[in-house]
Amino acid sequence: MPQDNAPTVGIDDLAVYVPGLYLPLEGEFARRRGIDPGKLIKGIGIERMAVPDAHEDAATMAAMSLLLLMRRSRLQPEQIGKIYVGTESSADEAKAMGTYVIGMLEQVYGQGSFQECGTVEMKAACIATTLALECQSYWLAGEDEDKVGVVIASDVAKYPLASPGEYTQGAGSVSLLLKKNPRLLALEQVYGHFTRDENDFFRPMGCTTAVVNGKHSNQCYLDAVTGAFDSFSARAARKGIIVPATGECVTDYLDHILFHIPYPRMVEYASAAVFRHDWKSCPRSRRVEEEIGPEPGEGDDKDAAALPAAEADYARRFARSPQFLEAFAAKVRDTATLSRQIGNIYTGSIYLGLASLLELDRLQAGQRLGFGAYGSGCSALFFSGRVEPQAEDLPRLGLVERLEERKAITLADYEMLHEGKMEKSLIEPRQEFVLAGIDSQGYRHYKFVE
Ligand code: COA
Repeated sequence: MPQDNAPTVGIDDLAVYVPGLYLPLEGEFARRRGIDPGKLIKGIGIERMAVPDAHEDAATMAAMSLLLLMRRSRLQPEQIGKIYVGTESSADEAKAMGTYVIGMLEQVYGQGSFQECGTVEMKAACIATTLALECQSYWLAGEDEDKVGVVIASDVAKYPLASPGEYTQGAGSVSLLLKKNPRLLALEQVYGHFTRDENDFFRPMGCTTAVVNGKHSNQCYLDAVTGAFDSFSARAARKGIIVPATGECVTDYLDHILFHIPYPRMVEYASAAVFRHDWKSCPRSRRVEEEIGPEPGEGDDKDAAALPAAEADYARRFARSPQFLEAFAAKVRDTATLSRQIGNIYTGSIYLGLASLLELDRLQAGQRLGFGAYGSGCSALFFSGRVEPQAEDLPRLGLVERLEERKAITLADYEMLHEGKMEKSLIEPRQEFVLAGIDSQGYRHYKFVE
């Protein structure tokens, strides 16, 4: 825990970039794929999927969110000590995406203006940005030249056409400004990790789309986030940050819980797993038992073979129990608001949750936020932060308006963009970074279009 007069470190501000194109999932997409729209809207939770235009990639989106952040926070290049980029959509096996991003930003701020800034690209599926944030929080705590750090998440979530992953795609970038005495969120510097070797989701060298074992990936996510939550709870108790009083449990001390959002329904599954697990240690479990009966395997004579079905049935009943629905509505549901209109942005999705709370005016000074980040492969990290008094005065991000201004595209245009066959941009670029070309050596050329 920081000394009383020691500066805190944390998230000072954030900016979100979302492409100007989207594919509506109701209508033509649902009809042509033979999927009931109810499944997409209610079962998965996504209404519109953000789609990058022909001139965009993960690097242009990263540069755009950084530019938005710098303009919004009146940040100058020489103030930034480090830029860490979390991505699983890298276009180069060796060169760090941050160097391309710096090259783009220097077209706006001047050649060499970011020269003293360190950059690294971090890959750990959807958890990379959160691991980058953890690293920068330690660096900032010891930083003595008043530098700030930037952590950028940028991804194009891409699965094969007509696969079950297709309707959970999306694209976008989030830039987080990290500094001492932040205006938005002071990190409590308690990090609970969970890691296990899994084949739930991976993208072998040379493949443009991921290999996904979908149902298995859901289970890995739940196991890992619950494991990281346990690790966090134990560390928070040891540091005296969260020591539940008799009859209370750890989630009682979290005002909002932000989970990784591969698709909005997943945060419902994640919160059900975490609340159910947490409540086992407090009297609330007895109230749940009164509502929906005992946990499977407890006090019944079911044999081992029947247990998975009994467990699935219990999980469904738990997710409909009044106790859970009340906690979910109060602490989690609103974090997925923006994701319903954007889809999965992989490593930035959890911070879209933070943007949702900011846009919905749900953050109040003193509230404690819990973050449950997940990355396939697999690992999870649970950490916490306290909302700072100045958070309430931070200007809104204007995302609701941005999402409404986007252009809807046809299924045919989306498929051309998905397969990399669209040669001309669907929206003429203006005041943005574009991928101008890839030369014969594979070096990518970017430019800022006025
Ligand atoms: N109306 C309303 N809901 C419907 C429906 C309808 N007509 N038809 C189905 N549903 C519901 C299902 O009942 C289910 O909800 P439930 O869990 O409450 O029962 C939900 O829609 C999902 O349907 P399901 O058939 O189980 O999933 P899927 O085969 O479409 O696969 C993923 C979902 C996420 C596994 C798949 O999209 C995927 O592989 N995505 C990429 C990987 C990923 O995001 N993993 C997450 C962890 S990182």
